[in-house]
Amino acid sequence: MKKIAVVGTGYVGLVTGVGLSHIGHEVTCLDVDHEKIDLLQKGRSPIYEVSLEPMIQENQKQKRLSFTSKYEDIQESEIILIAVGTPQQTDGSANLTYIYEAAEAIAQTINQGVTVVVKSTVPVGTCQDVKNYIQAKTPFPIQMVSNPEFLREGNALKDLFEGDRIVIGSDDRKAIQTVMEMYAPFDIPMMTTDLASAEMIKYASNAFLATKISFINEISSICEKVGANVEAVAKGMGMDRRIGSSFLQAGIGYGGSCFPKDTKALVQMAGNVEHQFDLLESVIHVNNKQQNKIVDQMKERCGSLVGKRITILGLAFKPGTDDLREAASLVILDRLLREGAFITAYDPVAMPRAKEKFPAVTFASNVKEALAGADLAAIVTEWDEFKELPLPLYDELMNEPILFDGRNCYSLDEVREQDIEYYSVGRPAIGYRKSAPLTHKA
Ligand code: UGA
Repeated sequence: MKKIAVVGTGYVGLVTGVGLSHIGHEVTCLDVDHEKIDLLQKGRSPIYEVSLEPMIQENQKQKRLSFTSKYEDIQESEIILIAVGTPQQTDGSANLTYIYEAAEAIAQTINQGVTVVVKSTVPVGTCQDVKNYIQAKTPFPIQMVSNPEFLREGNALKDLFEGDRIVIGSDDRKAIQTVMEMYAPFDIPMMTTDLASAEMIKYASNAFLATKISFINEISSICEKVGANVEAVAKGMGMDRRIGSSFLQAGIGYGGSCFPKDTKALVQMAGNVEHQFDLLESVIHVNNKQQNKIVDQMKERCGSLVGKRITILGLAFKPGTDDLREAASLVILDRLLREGAFITAYDPVAMPRAKEKFPAVTFASNVKEALAGADLAAIVTEWDEFKELPLPLYDELMNEPILFDGRNCYSLDEVREQDIEYYSVGRPAIGYRKSAPLTHKA
């Protein structure tokens, strides 16, 4: 078993650190945020992630997992994982300030040779630069590894323990061996390569998944116009193993801390080497359009939205998380407020974060309260709570039961049995009652 340090206790660092302690390693997680460390030392998780908190507590009890803000406490580590944030700068490129702060602190602290493993998503070439940076400041030998993460928020522990692959990039065979030993208990296929290719695998993977989503969203818009059903189309496409069925769910566009940031960073990176990444630029453009689509549809349906009471169900960028970063809900709330609508919103976990951003929005304490008296409603995040909400409630509670389902939470058959006007993504509209239809009627 190895002595491991993880620098940065965000989603990636915390989940990876906790998971590595769970398979028996001795792990110290470090963060410069004292409040976060205080919370973690008490066994509390600063992020909402299924099963994470009990796993933190269990491994603390077994004395395999500890938390600190002091670099001296990780001096004896054989492996140091860097998992700090690389936020987006205004030009779309990744901000590497936190990476270099961690590199500086590592260089100042270590008193023996160490394998440094970069888990943060960093532009191609960064790991080599960071290695040179640390090595120039310490006499102890540094072995550098790029080991990108493929964890989905809300599914992170499962992805860690049952991932499709572990990518290990390094020009140092001993470092590759060390990291392979560290991950061996997970029993996941490992792929080894050089530093630059490992860094690129991460961007290319996220960009490809984002491309699949924008592709199916474009198909969904055409489906709406020609009377096809995007769910059937995606199913038929996905049965071809070369295409695969995952990430073909049409919706209101991708959000979160990864796809929007990484796609823009890759366009920027390509531009730096004078390559115009036309395809990825279109993927981003389609996503922006998709995030705005529900508001466009509401305007098309109602004309002006001034004074309309509109309920937004779901704020998080996807279910299973309270993360609002780049969520479609932010675009939708912002636009609806500018259109002069009165908004009530409800989300099972993301409301505390949204309240700070949108003082003009009313936040309901449950879904029924949110729908009461509304003129229009929109489902923005596909929480189970909304998928399981009985359809007759919309008619009972709303002023008029007009629902825009941005996540196709209901089957068309069940909707057809209700007295409801229903618009979803890439499927025929149902129950249209007024003039000027929005899309094709069922
Ligand atoms: C994504 C990747 O899936 C992970 O493999 C990667 O490690 C992570 O980014 C990262 O770079 O850290 P995540 O952002 O947590 O993970 O979320 P996803 O589950 O991939 O969803 C991203 C967005 O795409 C969500 O807004 C979701 O609603 C949307 N989506 C996803 C669709 O609209 N349709 C789909 O079929 C799938």
